[in-house]
Amino acid sequence: MHIGCPKEIKPQEFRVGLTPNAAHEAVVNGHKVSIETNAGLGAGFTDQDYINAGADIMGTASEIFATADMIVKVKEPQAVERKMLREGQILFTYLHLAPDEAQTRDLMASGCTAIAYETVTDRNGGLPLLAPMSEVAGRLAPQVGAWTLQKANGGRGVLLGGVPGVGPGKVLVIGGGVVGTHAAKIAAGMGADVTVLDRSLPRLRYLDDVFGGSFKNSYASAGNTIELAREADLIIGAVLIPGAAAPKLISRAQLAELKPGAALVDVAIDQGGCFETSKATTHHDPIYDVDGIMHYCVANMPGAVARTSTLALGNATMPFMLALANKGWRQACADDHHLLNGLNVHAGHLTYEAVGAALGIDVMDATAAMEI
Ligand SMILES: NC(=O)c1ccc[n+]([C@@H]2O[C@H](COP(=O)([O-])OP(=O)(O)OC[C@H]3O[C@@H](n4cnc5c(N)ncnc54)[C@H](O)[C@@H]3O)[C@@H](O)[C@H]2O)c1
Repeated sequence: MHIGCPKEIKPQEFRVGLTPNAAHEAVVNGHKVSIETNAGLGAGFTDQDYINAGADIMGTASEIFATADMIVKVKEPQAVERKMLREGQILFTYLHLAPDEAQTRDLMASGCTAIAYETVTDRNGGLPLLAPMSEVAGRLAPQVGAWTLQKANGGRGVLLGGVPGVGPGKVLVIGGGVVGTHAAKIAAGMGADVTVLDRSLPRLRYLDDVFGGSFKNSYASAGNTIELAREADLIIGAVLIPGAAAPKLISRAQLAELKPGAALVDVAIDQGGCFETSKATTHHDPIYDVDGIMHYCVANMPGAVARTSTLALGNATMPFMLALANKGWRQACADDHHLLNGLNVHAGHLTYEAVGAALGIDVMDATAAMEI
């Protein structure tokens, strides 16, 4: 199969769909890999790295889209890229179609076979191609929170780890899933006094069993949340109710009860945010002040560490990319229903139920679509 990887063109996106290692694996499996020139630069990979891996370099995205059997990317195709997709071509990338009717209709019109990273599942009921980015965002959250807490950035001027004779800063993590657990691990590693809140008792049991010695956990009732928030220097929002907007767990009125200069890092901002006063920000202008409380609400946190994020995403996507290339998408999806769960569009049909429900578009069963 001919696998093509164009340079990402969404603003502030520095990741790349294929690492040199992933390209090399595809090449040793007998495939031809073409990378757009400078596609990997934002993540620290040169054209020569890809050439050394056995790939070839193409000058333009249009050459890649015109010739490749499968396009591997990171972000959803932008309008100009969607125009280049072809009937029968496989697209393997993040799509997030539910809030994006224009993209959904363009993908259907193209006749391509679009497999979305975010809906591929695993045997534990998890989302294996979303998890690496949650791990990155979670581990980044205490780092950006610590920076936000610095006096020059408007914060309280508290060092999370404290120093001998001065106690550590207090970190409250709301939501103990993938983001929350990784955030708590790093905050505890920085020496902070960390508490994680969750509403799932099985999750709290897990956190207690595995991390009981390094951070505390507590049930996320409204009363508990505000009580612990009053004491916190840094609050990290990491909740998720799948398919729903994030619940608002700290209201604007409650900001007055927090410590002046406390920092809120709302990782759940991509689902609308879990603090009433959260609004999405960018890496160029990441923080703002509401009533003396500093907010960090960057919606694409993994972009800040594009190299780590690219490597982590590549590790997760590689087995699926190789299965698609080695077997063809039909056989690969027939052999692995978790990969079939990633099928969102095929031959003009929408094949993912939740997207159809969100956009009011008729859905064809994914298994039936494989016969077309
Ligand atoms: N900003 C970014 O760059 C970025 C990157 C990755 C993930 N995210 C977002 O981070 C959020 C968390 O993702 P995740 O992968 O950790 O999800 P997850 O499903 O692994 O964990 C979410 C946790 O929230 C808990 N929860 C739900 N409602 C709660 C409530 N009211 N109070 C306390 N806990 C509650 C759940 O029980 C679960 O344990 C999601 O919104 C995700 O989209 C953002």
